[in-house]
Amino acid sequence: MEDIILFTGTANPELANAIAHKLNLPLGACASERFPDGETAVRLLESVHQKSVLIVQPSSPPVNDNLIELMVFADACRRAAADRIIAIVPYFGYSRADSSQGQREPITASMVADLLQTVGVDRVVTLDLHTPQIEGFFRIPVDSLTAVPTLCDKLRNLLPPDIVVVSPDPGRVPMATAYAQLLNSEVAVLHEQRKSGTETMTIQVVGDVRDRPCLIVDDIISTGRTIIRSIDALLRAGAFPEMTVAATHGLFIENAQTKLSHAGIEAIFVTDTVAQEFRDWPKLHVVSIAAPIASAIQGFKSDHSIHNSYEKRRS
Ligand code: R5P
Repeated sequence: MEDIILFTGTANPELANAIAHKLNLPLGACASERFPDGETAVRLLESVHQKSVLIVQPSSPPVNDNLIELMVFADACRRAAADRIIAIVPYFGYSRADSSQGQREPITASMVADLLQTVGVDRVVTLDLHTPQIEGFFRIPVDSLTAVPTLCDKLRNLLPPDIVVVSPDPGRVPMATAYAQLLNSEVAVLHEQRKSGTETMTIQVVGDVRDRPCLIVDDIISTGRTIIRSIDALLRAGAFPEMTVAATHGLFIENAQTKLSHAGIEAIFVTDTVAQEFRDWPKLHVVSIAAPIASAIQGFKSDHSIHNSYEKRRS
């Protein structure tokens, strides 16, 4: 892999190091700093001339800072005559802004795709995009990987045999189905419904969860509200009160840790797409996603396109 150089931004150097280790590559020398006024400056401290450059930088919180840093990196590489620039964006910020919810609203995920291409990114590698249509916002190749097999490998021997995989909303059914196939289990779906014009929303549980242990799966845990709301609905439906949670991206903002110390949660599994700094949270287990990213990168050498997302696996 002589013509490849791998840089890390500041968002998740641990993951970049793990990927570099798997590829037997040193990390490229660079410096990235924030000025007191909030501006970002990046310097490449080695030549990228005619090389394939990989930049590992999830656009996790602080989303805007990390996104700008990724773009500044790409701009520096383009101006230094890199042959191609591959953005490894394990967590793609703004992925939930994938459609317009009403009049005069932006589709920010599409704008981010435009920005990355404008600064010279030739290819994007990402995991478990909130919706697959985000790939369509790009005119460059997008390798959309999934963490589901990696998480299932970790979970398989830890879960009780009669587990039910729960999708917290209809949008996560394809992901829940992928988990259920790999874990040989059934799927239940939570569905928010307004009973009448005057009554508040209630969550209906579609599927058999009574007296059964549940694995709630999601792409993102942000504030933790969706998970807590799901647990409450499952408990009301008679599910076994020790549940497991699995998600690809753990953002854990706004006191999520406090919320997720809910007695109904036995364990939470996330990947390292987003850097995790919790030291005192025994229920949280972080599973590394470095191996599938590294093997996707190895595929570039033969110019294979990697299509590993669970949507494509189903077809
Ligand atoms: C929503 O559609 C997503 O799939 C997640 O369920 C959501 O982003 C989680 O956010 P929070 O943890 O704040 O409820």
